[in-house]
Amino acid sequence: MLSSLGKINNPLLRSITAASTSFSMIILIAAVALGLPHPQDKSANKIGIYASLLAFVAGAGVGLIVKGNPTVKDKQAKKDNLKNDVWKDWRDFKIVKKEAESKEITSFYFQPVDGGKITDFKPGQFLTIKLDIPEQDRPIIRTYSLSDYPDSQDYYRLSIKREGSPKGLDVPPGIASNFMHDHIQEGSIIPCKPPNGKFYLEINNSIPAVLISNGVGITPMITMAKAVAQNNPQRHIWFIHGARNGEYHACREEVNQISNLYSYPNLHIHYRYSRPRPEDEGKYNSQGYADKQLLADTIIPQIKSTHNGTSSAEYFLCGSPPFMDSIREGLNELGVPEDRVFFESFGGGKTKGKSKATSSTQENSAHIESAEVVFTQSDKTLTWTPEDGTLLEFAEANNINPESSCRQGVCLTCMCQLEEGEVEYLEEPSGEPDEGTVLICISKPKTNKIVLDL
Ligand SMILES: Cc1cc2nc3c(=O)[nH]c(=O)nc-3n(C[C@H](O)[C@H](O)[C@H](O)COP(=O)(O)OP(=O)(O)OC[C@H]3O[C@@H](n4cnc5c(N)ncnc54)[C@H](O)[C@@H]3O)c2cc1C
Ligand code: FES
Repeated sequence: MLSSLGKINNPLLRSITAASTSFSMIILIAAVALGLPHPQDKSANKIGIYASLLAFVAGAGVGLIVKGNPTVKDKQAKKDNLKNDVWKDWRDFKIVKKEAESKEITSFYFQPVDGGKITDFKPGQFLTIKLDIPEQDRPIIRTYSLSDYPDSQDYYRLSIKREGSPKGLDVPPGIASNFMHDHIQEGSIIPCKPPNGKFYLEINNSIPAVLISNGVGITPMITMAKAVAQNNPQRHIWFIHGARNGEYHACREEVNQISNLYSYPNLHIHYRYSRPRPEDEGKYNSQGYADKQLLADTIIPQIKSTHNGTSSAEYFLCGSPPFMDSIREGLNELGVPEDRVFFESFGGGKTKGKSKATSSTQENSAHIESAEVVFTQSDKTLTWTPEDGTLLEFAEANNINPESSCRQGVCLTCMCQLEEGEVEYLEEPSGEPDEGTVLICISKPKTNKIVLDL
């Protein structure tokens, strides 16, 4: 009976069914056991009625306690979300390890709660996580680069810098990063979206790759270096990292070990500390900032000497916006073609110009005065005017709360289907939205009517 009950998913219906069944069964038993041998005995009838009522109440209780089984539809939805280990929406991951990497950066190791496999990813891509933080009125969504390329492929690792308040500003420190450092422990569960992002290294190219990072920008670079070491060890990698000093330099030993671990002699490391401490002696290669001069004087000559005088290379940059701007300008001055330079900004300021892997904005577009915006899922049709800002701001102001994170066109969290009309990008997205979708955090209507699947 319990297994049949479990098939009823509505708890009220399950309770009524259990109660009625118990009632009928006891009536039948009472009639046979008490009524038939004593047809004139009223007390036997009474006992039968009380027993049946008791059975009704007990049945109702049992019906509420028994859990409904997932329906075929539920099971299908779960399967659809997890086809070939690639899932579409949120999937729960458990933190299986938490490890400090430097004064400010801590790594978190994620494994799927459902015990399934994890999706492959390209070195440089990121994971999107969702945190339920008690004092926040909605979940906080953030993206973090995958910082490891494990042989075992059974975990994802994110390495997160604790973001303090900017100097001189009386504002709260970073919400998600501080929550991760202070409240997320081994055993915590965090929903994640599958790996994504257009900033990645093609492992099998043969051209040398120069990975240049500062601060927490080291995270995608570790993954890139390990992926090449494991899969294409003929390829040369220059790993250039700038840090204040050894205290702030995350994953130093791990990067140093890559050559030994994978028998990969083609990894050339250069650490540059801006304010080294006496105890850092011997642990860094030069003092100053990772800049154009370092590339011109040291790295490019090394590339030439290992590649018969040619200096062709792909450059991958990740770090603070001023650092990336200065390296990009430097590379340009050194004659490196723009299409050989790839970069990703973690936010906290804008980089000038655009990454190679971007879609184009609507240039020379006519600016419209107003537009009808249909939000299909929310069943709302509203009038947008330029004062309403981006489509994300417009949606939020009207109590439609799409998921968002970077709000800069990088992380793709706000990507949504554009069913009708066109949008104009206010700035070049550095994430590349899928066909038929738009990033609403940096766009506004371009036509008089647009329809969004929101
Ligand atoms: C593709 C991608 C990959 C990334 N990878 C990594 C990674 O590997 N590791 C990593 O650590 N980070 C990474 N990031 C950055 C990360 O997603 C978060 O942006 C970062 O952790 C900060 O989030 P937060 O919630 O802690 O800070 P937020 O709460 O978003 O605050 C950010 C900063 O703003 C300040 N602030 C708060 N209020 C104000 C205000 N009113 N005015 C001005 N400033 C204010 C805060 O003090 C803080 O310094 C990545 C970002 C992207 C887009
Ligand atoms: S919120 Fe990150 S791309 Fe829009």
